Amino acid sequence: MTIRVARIIGSGSYLPERTLTNAELASSLDTTDEWIRSRTGIAERRIAAPGEWTSDLAVLAAERALAYAGIAADSLDFILVATTTPDLIFPATATIVQRKLGATRRQVPAFDIQAVCAGFIYALSMADSLIRSGAARRVLVIGAETMSRIMDWRDRATCILFGDGAGAVILESCAEPGRGILSTHLHADGSYEELLRTDGGLSRGLLVDAASGRGFTHMRGNEVFKQAVKALEGLVDETLTANGLEKSQIDWLVPHQANIRIIHSTAKRLGMAMDRVVMTIDRHGNTSAASVPLALDEAVRDGRIQPGQLLLLEAFGGGFTWGSALVRW
Ligand code: UT7
Repeated sequence: MTIRVARIIGSGSYLPERTLTNAELASSLDTTDEWIRSRTGIAERRIAAPGEWTSDLAVLAAERALAYAGIAADSLDFILVATTTPDLIFPATATIVQRKLGATRRQVPAFDIQAVCAGFIYALSMADSLIRSGAARRVLVIGAETMSRIMDWRDRATCILFGDGAGAVILESCAEPGRGILSTHLHADGSYEELLRTDGGLSRGLLVDAASGRGFTHMRGNEVFKQAVKALEGLVDETLTANGLEKSQIDWLVPHQANIRIIHSTAKRLGMAMDRVVMTIDRHGNTSAASVPLALDEAVRDGRIQPGQLLLLEAFGGGFTWGSALVRW
């Protein structure tokens, strides 16, 4: 029997037009450009326009990925959207995306995955399994977020960190073992909810109450930072060991863009120079599930990532959830 693996045949991304700089934030918050840059690596982030929803960003990223792959939306077998900021409580943003892409004719399955900043890696792993099992031949995987909508713009510890955007890839079944997604590793530890969460969920009552800060993102940044560094170190080691690889064999690190200091520490674990790390944090901030596909698309389109190279994608986020994907481009 032929072994099927999942190859990435297209990528695309989209950023909203509006740029919010550190200087603008410093004009209304007790913060400075210097503090934000030195503690996080962020200089600016994009903010979705009023009336611009997560599905709008997702569709634009998906259309670019479809054009890159040279395929039509109705040839997809599955649509997965990783998001923490869906358009609606239901239906899933993925079904809205399916409609907006004009891909309803074949009535293919579409649903959302909620694993916060690790959502794209989780979705990629699910798509890989769908292809390996033969359940799907082509899968659209999107990470899309409007994090600006769940920020308390009075809280300098969180609102300076996040931004909006979307990235997408198309996976296709291929019969060339050793290409495409070589492995994925996923983890979660639900003991840490208190350190990073957006409260005000449906089953617990009120969704948003600006006065009390309910419905916004709260984070004990310093504690999250330490857990992220530790988890990502373990993940790097796990991925290398599982694939029998030396760290020098990885060509590119495509990390989740939460904090430049976390990225430095993961690169150090891999013994990698920073010119082998795809960085977008300075311009995008933390776009949660969108950050890895946004970074990937940038490095693919500017020619840094070349066929045959080995990429390590990783992310860590609320839950906690974290995961990696090793990809032969
Ligand atoms: O993507 C999901 C996963 N998320 C992450 O991985 C984020 C991980 N955490 C971080 O990136 C960092 O912890 C932060 C960037 C959020 C914070 O940096 P930090 O170096 O850990 O700072 P801190 O929280 O220990 O705060 C240090 C000081 C505090 O003041 P005091 O108590 O020392 O007087 C904060 O109140 O910095 C203060 N501070 C700020 N000062 C100026 C916090 N935010 C700001 C700010 N501007 N925006």
